[in-house]
Amino acid sequence: MNIDGQHYRTIWRDKAGESVRIIDQTRLPHRFEILSIDTLPEMVVAIRTMQVRGAPLIGAAAAYGMALAMSEDDSDAHLMHAASCLISSRPTAVNLGWAVNRMQSRLFSMPAGFRRQAAWDEAENVCDEDVKLNRAIGRHGLQLLRALAAGKNRPLNILTHCNAGWLATVDWGTAMAPVYAAHDAGIPVHIWVDETRPRNQGAHLTAWELGKHGVPHTVITDNAGGHLMQHGKVDMVIVGADRVTAAGDVCNKIGTYLKALAAFDNDVPFYAAVPSPTIDWTIESGHGNIPIEDRGPDEVASIQGRTENGGIASINILPHGTAASNPAFDVTPSRLITGIITERGICPPDELRALFRESMS
Ligand code: MRU
Repeated sequence: MNIDGQHYRTIWRDKAGESVRIIDQTRLPHRFEILSIDTLPEMVVAIRTMQVRGAPLIGAAAAYGMALAMSEDDSDAHLMHAASCLISSRPTAVNLGWAVNRMQSRLFSMPAGFRRQAAWDEAENVCDEDVKLNRAIGRHGLQLLRALAAGKNRPLNILTHCNAGWLATVDWGTAMAPVYAAHDAGIPVHIWVDETRPRNQGAHLTAWELGKHGVPHTVITDNAGGHLMQHGKVDMVIVGADRVTAAGDVCNKIGTYLKALAAFDNDVPFYAAVPSPTIDWTIESGHGNIPIEDRGPDEVASIQGRTENGGIASINILPHGTAASNPAFDVTPSRLITGIITERGICPPDELRALFRESMS
């Protein structure tokens, strides 16, 4: 992704040493700040406080967290300690556990004393693979968008929820990868961006990265999507996912389910873009079987924005003493989903197993 002419990934290893650089997503879109993450506890905090967020990026950050831990101490005990700290940092995105398990298998296959370099190499592999998977999702999604755009003498209107773009991954994004591919191929697209309360990842992050890439977009309130669909203003919905079950149920940012219901009622195709590390083959039905992150009430009670003098401020919007509840994700049942866009191609939810037959074991 290019930001003002310079290429960036969202996370990278500092070439000078064994530390990691991240774009601090809690400061966007108001400030573009790069942070140095030098220790395992700093990486755990970065994930927990959402300086890095989005399922694939959380996985990449956890892989680097394991590498940072191995630079400190590559004993069995520290390896296990690092894995458990990272896994408990955010519960819903399965990419986190996937990345930590992958790092553990690689590192336990060699004795202490040899793990440091291997950990950094494997973390780099996790990041490079994420970029490849997302590019492939972009290629497959491009064919779909091309077909849907054919014959329209106007831009293809796509609605998305939360941020499943470049910032949620190492590069390219999942739901936004087909959008960038279509835009770059000259297919006119326009994105309806749900603001995505309570943290406003749509308004803050998706709008920012689409703007940097020159993709036309409009931010809408979370409740506007159904109305736009009723009036023929949405041609398709594409969202990302934090965990997809073997049966094709999609767990994603809170509010996704309501968009899927509205899309179903209005015959608007609803797609989830999903790299294979986001599929949890151990779960069949998503209902009640996925840990849903329960975040603090402060995120509901307050809102962050830019002040007139250019500072960043958080203001309270609730009456004093009002209770607030903040479930961060919901599950969209497969019956509401038209298709899943993966690195292997696009399929209806009930054909996900067939597409990844050998991975399920
Ligand atoms: O709480 P967040 O910002 O980490 O939630 C992110 C999402 O819900 C994304 O849609 C999901 O991780 C897909 S990312 C490609």
